[in-house]
Amino acid sequence: MTSHISILMCAPDHYDVDYVINPWMEGNIHKSSRDRAVVQWQGLYQILKEHATVDLVTPQKGVPDMVFTANAGLVLGENVVLSRFLHKERQGEEPFFKEWFEQHGYKVYELPKDLPFEGAGDALFDREGRWLWAGYGFRSELDSHPYLAKWLDIEVLSLRLIDERFYHLDTCFCPLANGYLLYYPDAFDSYSNRLIEMRVAPEKRIAIAEADAVNFACNTVNLEHIVVMNKVSDGLKARLKQVGFQVLETPLTEFLKAGGAAKCLTLRVTEPVLADVHASIHVESRIISIQGHLLDSGLINRALDLIIDNGGSFQVLNFNLGEQRQSTSAAEVKVSAPSHEVMESIISHLIDLGAVDLPQDERDAKLEPVIENGVAPDDFYVSTIYPTEVRINGEWIQVQNQRMDGAIAISQTPQGTVAKCKLLRDLEIKESVVVDVFGIRTIRKTESREKRNTEEFSFMSAGVSSERRVELVVEQVAWELRKIRDAGGKVVVSAGPVVIHTGGGEHLSRLVREGYVQSLLGGNAIAVHDIEQSTLGTSLGVDMKRGVTVRGGHRHHLKVINTIRRYGSIKKAVEAGVITNGIMYECVKNNVPFVLAGSIRDDGPLPDTQMDLIKAQVEYAEQIKGAEMILMLSSMLHSIGVGNMTPSGVKIVCVDINPAVVTKLSDRGSVESVGVVTDVGLFLSLLVQQLDKLTSPYVGKVG
Ligand code: ARG
Repeated sequence: MTSHISILMCAPDHYDVDYVINPWMEGNIHKSSRDRAVVQWQGLYQILKEHATVDLVTPQKGVPDMVFTANAGLVLGENVVLSRFLHKERQGEEPFFKEWFEQHGYKVYELPKDLPFEGAGDALFDREGRWLWAGYGFRSELDSHPYLAKWLDIEVLSLRLIDERFYHLDTCFCPLANGYLLYYPDAFDSYSNRLIEMRVAPEKRIAIAEADAVNFACNTVNLEHIVVMNKVSDGLKARLKQVGFQVLETPLTEFLKAGGAAKCLTLRVTEPVLADVHASIHVESRIISIQGHLLDSGLINRALDLIIDNGGSFQVLNFNLGEQRQSTSAAEVKVSAPSHEVMESIISHLIDLGAVDLPQDERDAKLEPVIENGVAPDDFYVSTIYPTEVRINGEWIQVQNQRMDGAIAISQTPQGTVAKCKLLRDLEIKESVVVDVFGIRTIRKTESREKRNTEEFSFMSAGVSSERRVELVVEQVAWELRKIRDAGGKVVVSAGPVVIHTGGGEHLSRLVREGYVQSLLGGNAIAVHDIEQSTLGTSLGVDMKRGVTVRGGHRHHLKVINTIRRYGSIKKAVEAGVITNGIMYECVKNNVPFVLAGSIRDDGPLPDTQMDLIKAQVEYAEQIKGAEMILMLSSMLHSIGVGNMTPSGVKIVCVDINPAVVTKLSDRGSVESVGVVTDVGLFLSLLVQQLDKLTSPYVGKVG
């Protein structure tokens, strides 16, 4: 007998499945046999008694899960952190366990109310005593971990559980003697898996498969070289044997019905303290404040969900609900993360939603110098489409050239400090770059409810058929186009060759001619197809009027390219009278600038096509400046490129027959982007019709 080890157990006198608080209990209410449970429990008890001292706590009526003493608390030396159960069904056990610990001379620490932590079910010591692994995600809150570190004076490594079948750390993770670790990797998020792999050498990691995991193979009691568990596959048994463990199986199926097995039924109450081990905690917390129509617009849900989805946890400290329909709400949320790395990713998302620090916590942005042209420091903050400000020397300055996927470069100029979004390749050695996530905020307007409803550029009307939806979009786009044109504003169109194939060429030509388009962005193809159609009546060899392939027609395409090459540019071909109609013709005639960005598959290319892609990106960005609306017509490549360069606040309409393209652009939020899945030729013809209605004088119907 290993007499220095003491284990606490609780006989199953009152054990049953009375309620459902984990997936294993579903369908098992009152399905376990008390007699069989007693026999199985005795089986485990007898085995353990041969290797350790077993203490018993008196079972109590009304708390059937009290058999699972692992959840009584977490013991280290003389200290115990008492559990605070998440579910009220188990909270009744707390006083009985507390009494037992006090009677046995432990110093009992109790967590603040509403901060759940489920004891040794969710916290397991490395068997060498070097640190504590602590789980969160289902039963225990991440914010309990700093308390464990402080009270037990030990380093705490937080692991996030993501599979609800493995809701307690001890259901999927078991540190063994000699630094071995038995665990089921799929129960953890990727950050946690990386942490595990950093701390436990590959030859010490025994990763198990799902089949063993669902038999609770990780729910093992390890007493030196002995491991006691419910059931184990031959393969795993052999593996354990190979590294020096003796496997003892003892059936615990009745307890599996409640979601527990060997380890859950025990609590090791003798855990030696190592002299040179001390507290250290990686959990970070930060309080953010967020304002707006938090409930109406779902902003608060989005904020809280993203904290969880990114591996953090939260506590809402204050919520001031706006009372009137117009009034905004404000919330203060404490965000916790298992490491700075995770915190960074959570905060950068929250910044996008408009979250800011409390005034007293505000601090300057962290800057690092560029030490190689075109390369940012590792930790650089990735810019988004939202208007951003950064705090430098106590002052908030607006970031210029807002776009997504850039870095924020800071430079000193005679006019003062300037902050600019720059592409990585454009960064220069004399600049510094904003890194980490301090002193950065985005400015989100919170319009009044009414204004929001009328101005919102979205067509979310539920229950509207897709045809009606197209009509609605057309109506609104026509309205906006006219408004922008009459006010001297700017509309940019990005278009693919499908516009021509679907018969939309003549309509787009008209839009250009009538002043609705201020800039055209495309590739080589749209121009070639357009000119082929206007000069030869075909598009990629298909007769556009009759819809049939013209014999040898595909050569038309190359002939067109050749002709334009002879004239030197589209403009010159127009001036020479070679092109007399079409989209490109109208652009030249009406001084509407166009940029054609080349690609690997381009034929020719046309002399106008910019084959230097970096230059093409710069020229596109130049055209997008000042745009109020962008119409993206059936070109995935160009539309996504344009989307990346465009700051928020620009209305975007994306028309494509392929829903995937449309959804790609929809993560800008429905307020300013709208996607229409339809034939682009049809869309353009409806749009032109609608514009006619809006601009022709009103003729009253008589009779
Ligand atoms: N029915 C109990 C619960 O859901 C089972 C607890 C199992 N204990 C454990 N340490 N995994 O809380």
